[in-house]
Amino acid sequence: MARSDWGIGLVGLGGISRHHLEGYAIQGLKVVGGADISLERAKLAQEQFKLPFITDDYRQLIDHPEVKIVDIIVPHDKLERRLPIVEYAASKGKAIFIQKPMMPYLDWAKKLVETVDEYGVPMMVNQNSIFAPGMLMAEYYMRDYDIMGRIYYCQIENRAWVNPGQDAWVAKDERWVQADMAIHHFALVRHWFGDVKSVYAILARDKSQEFVKGDTVGVVNLVFKNGIRAAIINNWSYRGNRHRPHSIEEIVVQGDRGVITFDSEHIHVKCADGREMTPEVHGKWFPDAFGNSMAHFVDALDNRKPFYCSAHDNLKSVAIIEAVYISAKENRVVIPDELLL
Ligand SMILES: NC(=O)c1ccc[n+]([C@@H]2O[C@H](COP(=O)([O-])OP(=O)(O)OC[C@H]3O[C@@H](n4cnc5c(N)ncnc54)[C@H](O)[C@@H]3O)[C@@H](O)[C@H]2O)c1
Repeated sequence: MARSDWGIGLVGLGGISRHHLEGYAIQGLKVVGGADISLERAKLAQEQFKLPFITDDYRQLIDHPEVKIVDIIVPHDKLERRLPIVEYAASKGKAIFIQKPMMPYLDWAKKLVETVDEYGVPMMVNQNSIFAPGMLMAEYYMRDYDIMGRIYYCQIENRAWVNPGQDAWVAKDERWVQADMAIHHFALVRHWFGDVKSVYAILARDKSQEFVKGDTVGVVNLVFKNGIRAAIINNWSYRGNRHRPHSIEEIVVQGDRGVITFDSEHIHVKCADGREMTPEVHGKWFPDAFGNSMAHFVDALDNRKPFYCSAHDNLKSVAIIEAVYISAKENRVVIPDELLL
């Protein structure tokens, strides 16, 4: 088969689906159609993106003979919302691509993984931070010992204000900051540095953000099994004038020979020997990371090769979310592997 034979069906045609569709068009991927419980939304997407097929019943879309990959873009707010879609797609033997976070709670995520395992279908989690143009370029430099030497430290900082409104589902789960935002960073640093040995976290809350449930600030310290340390800061209560919002959170990776300072659109590399580079980054997180991540999945399926961010692997990123809340509540270091037993 060719890339263009892997027909994609999108379940959920809300806010972020447009970036999926724009990214897939850039990559020459085949979109068969979409489903949304709101037919009005489905019609809007059909008009804008010329979708060949729309429905308000995801089962009709999944049953479409040309749909080979079910792209699940419904909110992760309830297990009952995502699990039936995963189960139906898996029972029909379709490959599944599911938006991050796979689930905000480890128990829920395990249920999804058990379901795809039962039917033996592949499922990739759309942790597209890994595929954002600036991240891909930074990874290229990170893997070069001549430039970086031994990497020992990474910091990521998101700094912005969130104000979702009373009716939006966003930020209504008490895990919002970690499960919606920091999960981008957990998956990213795991991709770069491997598995995490321990987690220590502090959380804070700005009570004036009345429509955000739970913490609004999180500082998470990670120690990797290879000894690298990372600080993942998500400050969503910042009213100041030096914003570093998602998708241009600031990232620093330090080695004993060089440092990379970057975000998804810009990068600067400086070495201890005086070399300095500011290569141009082509593209942005929105929509390029969306197209890149689906293209990675399609190419892996087409060549029968492993892919990044498999559902099984992603359980380890969700376990970090879980570890953060235990750590902050009990003021102690938590070993995420112990949560996966
Ligand atoms: N990777 C990223 O960078 C990124 C960015 C934004 C959002 N997301 C994730 O994407 C998901 C969706 O976010 P959004 O902002 O598009 O939400 P949204 O509320 O704008 O859209 C969700 C859509 O799903 C539809 N829907 C809900 N239940 C359904 C069902 N059972 N069947 C069919 N359609 C259903 C809704 O009607 C709505 O149109 C979330 O999990 C979010 O975390 C990821």
